[in-house]
Amino acid sequence: MAGRDIVVEIAGKPAYAVQIGKGVLRELGARARRACPKAAAAFIVTDDNVAPLYLRAAQASLQGAGLPVETFIAGAGEESKSVACLERLWQVMAQAHLGRDACVVALGGGVVGDLAGFAAATYMRGVFFVQVPTTLLAMVDSSVGGKTAVNLPEGKNLAGSFYQPSYVCADTEVLSTLDEREWVCGCGEVTKSAALDGAAFFDWLRVHARALALRDSAATAEVIERCVDFKAGIVARDEQENSGVRECLNLGHTLGHAIEKLAGYGAYSHGAAVAEGVRFSAQLAEALCGADSAFTRELGDLLDRLGCTRLPFSAQPTQLMEVMRADKKNRAGEIRFVLLREPGAWEVRRVEEDLLEEQLAAWARSKA
Ligand code: GLY
Repeated sequence: MAGRDIVVEIAGKPAYAVQIGKGVLRELGARARRACPKAAAAFIVTDDNVAPLYLRAAQASLQGAGLPVETFIAGAGEESKSVACLERLWQVMAQAHLGRDACVVALGGGVVGDLAGFAAATYMRGVFFVQVPTTLLAMVDSSVGGKTAVNLPEGKNLAGSFYQPSYVCADTEVLSTLDEREWVCGCGEVTKSAALDGAAFFDWLRVHARALALRDSAATAEVIERCVDFKAGIVARDEQENSGVRECLNLGHTLGHAIEKLAGYGAYSHGAAVAEGVRFSAQLAEALCGADSAFTRELGDLLDRLGCTRLPFSAQPTQLMEVMRADKKNRAGEIRFVLLREPGAWEVRRVEEDLLEEQLAAWARSKA
């Protein structure tokens, strides 16, 4: 076996392996067969950025393991996470006569994983599902844990389901073709995970930030393993975000999602917007939970060194708050933030609107 397997537990039982390592894409077919022994055909969902790079290798591996393969190539980008694209995908699956023994293989980043995962969850009330993440963000976060969704005009990820994959194949070699924006996007989520996990991972990341920014292969493999280990632990405790534990993964997302929406989806990468949100939540944590300003500085410095520099974006506090109120993470119209007192010590707080407005105004002024 190449690479390392991290096993995700669901409901107290081992559920699926995340295989991380160089060249593991070659084992996709054999591992997918082992994970889904009843699968009779594979259906690869990818996008037009990834297809020219890795579709042939994925196809060859699946066919080599005896699975016939059909493919669906979506346009690259957030627009494909739509009901219209999902409908086309369902139709192509039906026209290919896929049955309940089909295995949907998501080959791509977060958009492809969410779209393909929701199709797998809903086509014929659910078929087998395998994730092959090709971006750092998808490897460290979105391919693990079973969140699948499409966007509605009213907001991001509003229609979706929890649907766990049977196997995740994270080949670190494919990251060599990732552009800088996508790399930095992944680093934003990496910093979030390290800060939530605790001092050991946070300190490790501070020591290895330069190596990671230079895409050193050992540091990259280790950071993916650490993030997946962390996320597997969270998902094992709270698969469907019911008990409040999984909510910690929304650190940086309250402001991050508002920035993405107001700047226009795609203006900044998701991870870059989350990184800005992580900085703001550190500022709020100082005001609300007595977090140390030294920790805020350490977080900011770490994000800078990973290339997640401050975004040249600001907006009126009232505008930001209007978007935040509509976010699906909220309960009863309250605006909630994940706040960190120190690495590993987080809490979710409803933030009074007066105080939030004041803090957002300070954040906006700091951009001037
Ligand atoms: N990306 C957040 C989650 O999986 O819960």
